[in-house]
Amino acid sequence: MEKKIIILPGDGIGKEVTTEGKKVLEKIAGLFNHQFEFDSATIGHDAIEATGNPLPDETLTKLKNCDAILFGAVGHPKYDNDPTLKVRPEQGLLKMRKELGLYANLRPIKLFDELLEASSIKPEILKGSDILFFRELTGDVYFGEKGRKDEGKTAYDLMIYQKYEIERIAHKAFQAARTRKKKVTSVDKANVLESSRLWREVVNEVSKHYPDITLEHQFIDAAAMKLIQNPKSFDVVLTGNLFGDILTDEASQIAGSMGMLASASVGDKVGLYEPIHGSAHDITGKGIANPLASILSAALLLDISFGLKEESDAVIKAVEATLKAGYRTADIADSKTAKDKILNTQQMGTQILNELKKVASYQTSVASNGNQ
Ligand code: IPM
Ligand code: MN
Repeated sequence: MEKKIIILPGDGIGKEVTTEGKKVLEKIAGLFNHQFEFDSATIGHDAIEATGNPLPDETLTKLKNCDAILFGAVGHPKYDNDPTLKVRPEQGLLKMRKELGLYANLRPIKLFDELLEASSIKPEILKGSDILFFRELTGDVYFGEKGRKDEGKTAYDLMIYQKYEIERIAHKAFQAARTRKKKVTSVDKANVLESSRLWREVVNEVSKHYPDITLEHQFIDAAAMKLIQNPKSFDVVLTGNLFGDILTDEASQIAGSMGMLASASVGDKVGLYEPIHGSAHDITGKGIANPLASILSAALLLDISFGLKEESDAVIKAVEATLKAGYRTADIADSKTAKDKILNTQQMGTQILNELKKVASYQTSVASNGNQ
């Protein structure tokens, strides 16, 4: 298969982790005989420094003309410490989502058994958790009208949804539920917000097309509580942009660490794959960031954008085998982790490449035996 992939490292640890994600894609191409052509582009703080624009036209053109994107993160403490700055790294990310029509953000929360102890939640509550979030990504308060009035003393961000925006992501969530435990939990704040009442109405309508799927509604406050009280009660969670942003950070604790969570943003055309963690400037440059979220994002890319299920499974199996062998980055290590098993970013990447070779040769031999 011939494909063109853009690597979009962004800021902070984004660069460190996508380097490892890219190596995994290169390895897969070699092992499974694919031709992946790579190019890179700038976004975020880096792009502002170079061009004054967090999403330069040159980047956007490249993104519109490729088959998939592996993205790192954007952000810089400079902007967090000074809310008056008008041009901000995050604007690059939001514009990219909008311009590429990436309206559905899939965030799978899957706990690797080996990491049961890495979370601060009790193992018996966590074991067996497997949730797929559908976070709407191009609407809501993120994109509604915003501004200041009263000489700057009043600020507003409009929470707004249009029917078609809710419909299209709801369909995606129900379709995914068909391949899973056949349950959708839609999360809103319909007891207070008009946009949530429209959300609920539309989700109810869409659900009529899926009589085989159980639909339940929860308010965001209750859902936030139930998520850590009983994560196993969730299968597919469907929610808006802001609620989804908050709930998925919370849900990362079900998977042990933010450093483990991958995501896929899909919509009209090209797919974008990224860790759910941010640029983490507190650890940038130390080489200790966990690259597994980027590597698992690469696995999602292979599966969702290219339909390469076997290749994607090989990456996931390599991650499993590495964890099983006891290797950890600092964020997922616990008191039982041996000192020599705590790896830095690059070492963890290399470990995955080694496992990949083994997994791929096993898969190939199983396939050829099956053919005899
Ligand atoms: C995420 C991030 C972004 C968001 C920020 C960086 C704008 O937190 O992808 O979850 O809020 O969507
Ligand atoms: Mn977030």
